[in-house]
Amino acid sequence: MARVAHSDEAKRAPQSPPQLFRFVEELQGDLPWGSVLDAGTGTGSIRWVSSLPTARWTAVTGAEGHAVQVSDAVAAVRRRQDRIVLGNWADPALLAGECYDTVLADYLLGAIEGFAPYFQPRLFARLRPLVGHRLYVVGLEPYVSHEPNSPAARIIWEIGRFRDACLLLAGERPYREYPVQWVIDHLYASGFRVVAARRFAIRYKARFVNSQIDMCAPRLATLSDRTLADALSARGEALRNRALDLIDREGGIRHGFDHVVAAEPIGT
Ligand SMILES: C[S@@+](CC[C@H](N)C(=O)[O-])C[C@H]1O[C@@H](n2cnc3c(N)ncnc32)[C@H](O)[C@@H]1O
Repeated sequence: MARVAHSDEAKRAPQSPPQLFRFVEELQGDLPWGSVLDAGTGTGSIRWVSSLPTARWTAVTGAEGHAVQVSDAVAAVRRRQDRIVLGNWADPALLAGECYDTVLADYLLGAIEGFAPYFQPRLFARLRPLVGHRLYVVGLEPYVSHEPNSPAARIIWEIGRFRDACLLLAGERPYREYPVQWVIDHLYASGFRVVAARRFAIRYKARFVNSQIDMCAPRLATLSDRTLADALSARGEALRNRALDLIDREGGIRHGFDHVVAAEPIGT
């Protein structure tokens, strides 16, 4: 199967709303940030990390295009000691022997499917030696796998399934999100204790709807079956219109949750 196309990785990537990072700051309290690892970097997380009083930071991405975007986003504030690293967590050599006071895994788990499928259950154990004091995991509760039980749930579910169908037809791997309980269970199984966990309700806006439908167009352009591509394209526009109407009427689509989990390595 083809690798995911990384050129528009940023469009696929969810970005933490400010209240999630505020919660992380609250949990951190007076603890110094020290050295920070942004283990699944992107423009949202690196802008936040680079705004903190850190000793140094390292930002890891699996996608070259993402590395360029991150580099551009922090060009004005990046110090000599700050690094952007292109690599894969499935590679044991990546940052081997390094340790960071604070590690952030911001929407990393859901994206693993595109870079190292089946590696998800090993991710936290892989990060464990890199975590000196705190690991913060930010993620999205799965929304394409549950039967929808409200109009808001249905439209988000339909958009998610439509997007993933287009990615699969184009030979790519959609993201795969995991519930907070899975995260907690795997943190404990990987040598961490969980010190806090909270879910945050999501209100989807037009930006989400447009980005999800728009990212399908280049995928559909690759299909040799043009009848199928045209039908899917029309389906995408119908979904867009329904979703944007709902957003106009209700000021957003309230559905689902993000989560933040804070954990510390056992034995420190
Ligand atoms: C959804 S994005 C993260 C969003 C980002 N924190 C932001 O604020 O925009 C996922 C990130 O994790 C990286 N990633 C996913 N799987 C990876 C792997 N196996 N090894 C290294 N990086 C990976 C992707 O390349 C990307 O940089």
